[in-house]
Amino acid sequence: MTGTVVVQPAGVEIVVEDGESLMRAAERLGYRWPTICGGQGTCRTCFVQVDEGLAHCSGIGGLEREGIAALRRPVDGRTRLACQLRVTGGPVTVTRRGVRRRTEGEQGVG
Ligand code: FES
Repeated sequence: MTGTVVVQPAGVEIVVEDGESLMRAAERLGYRWPTICGGQGTCRTCFVQVDEGLAHCSGIGGLEREGIAALRRPVDGRTRLACQLRVTGGPVTVTRRGVRRRTEGEQGVG
């Protein structure tokens, strides 16, 4: 089942396929997402704040839990790593500055 995520403040809507992370879905749709590790779950640069739709978000695994703790945020579902976050249904609303359409010639990651 697919999920839908609205990313603020840009206001872009991302349709997340089954089993795909939010960050991968955004890249597939032509958006640039802040990352250093490219989705390995280790840089924490991709983090988002979940504003609405917590019930549609996947559970938090061990690696992501460590990352959120390292960001000095509570592991309460409000802070997530976009490269680990999967979504079913929705809509889910998150806040992440720096998400924008890739310009021509730009790589998907970075
Ligand atoms: S992209 Fe590096 S932790 Fe998510």
